[in-house]
Amino acid sequence: MTKTSDWLISFNSSYQRQVHHLLTERKQQQDKTTTISITGGKGGVGKTSISLKFAKELAAEGSKVLLIDCDYNLSNTSIKLDLPLTNNFYSLITNEKSFEECLYQDGNFHLLSACNGNVDMFDREMRMEEFIIDIINEHEGEYDFILLDCPAGIQRESLTLNAYCDYRVVVVTPDKASITDSYSLIKVLSQKFGIKENHLLVNKYRTPAQFEKVVSTLSETVENFLGCRTRILGGVKRVDISQNKFDKYFLDTTGKNDLQRNFLKVVGRLTEELGRPIVPTEIFPLEKLNTTFNNLNA
Ligand SMILES: Nc1ncnc2c1ncn2[C@@H]1O[C@H](COP(=O)(O)OP(=O)(O)OP(=O)(O)O)[C@@H](O)[C@H]1O
Ligand SMILES: [Mg+2]
Repeated sequence: MTKTSDWLISFNSSYQRQVHHLLTERKQQQDKTTTISITGGKGGVGKTSISLKFAKELAAEGSKVLLIDCDYNLSNTSIKLDLPLTNNFYSLITNEKSFEECLYQDGNFHLLSACNGNVDMFDREMRMEEFIIDIINEHEGEYDFILLDCPAGIQRESLTLNAYCDYRVVVVTPDKASITDSYSLIKVLSQKFGIKENHLLVNKYRTPAQFEKVVSTLSETVENFLGCRTRILGGVKRVDISQNKFDKYFLDTTGKNDLQRNFLKVVGRLTEELGRPIVPTEIFPLEKLNTTFNNLNA
């Protein structure tokens, strides 16, 4: 396959055509790794927690998973896993270490963390999205899933990575800013990259009514004004424990607490739609899925 950087040569008027070409080329590949970006526009909505959870649950069910932290100089994935911070990502960029040397590996779960306030990284001029797309291309086939934990914002890097992935999980919380930012993300993806379908996950909701409202507001607006389809994956309730403790509780893959059981339904819905179900589908047949809370939490 052609190197990404050969296509994304310059950000002039031909940029979108080049990205389109890349996407077309990618769609023609058979049996490829499934790539999913976890995104959402607004900061702090839970993208990193949800990315880690998806990756760990998919790995626990037997899939080989690579999670790439795309928040390249404000990385949080290692912090949430209580792993030491490293400059491995920078070492990968500068070719000082191999890809394998830069990974954290725990069975089927592989993580490429990024940097934290690395000054050399700040000084370095590079197209991060090209670098990450090249990693995807070089290591596809080694993984069943490659997940991208996207940074907040709708800057070019993030949008290109979102567009490049096969699927996008938009994480939204029940506040106006989050809903508005997600709409903006979906709008730019639609109008600049022709992306017409996204998956939605509502995080930090408190009541069924709140969940419903977020789902209907966003999916209806997106459909009416942008002609885009939103596929509902479900949600994760707000848990009122200290933020530092939340991730330990949420990321546990052994305890089968309520949060985990509900999240497995989310994972099951997504993987069933991708045609590679990893959780027995009879537990939550897709045809029965609608946006009602009762169904989601049955
Ligand atoms: N359902 C939830 N209930 C309670 N706390 C949560 C929930 N989901 C996430 N959090 C907490 O919210 C905070 C923000 O989550 P996270 O870092 O995953 O967000 P983010 O979208 O990745 O942020 P950023 O945009 O800065 O990358 C974290 O402290 C996390 O533990
Ligand atoms: Mg994050």
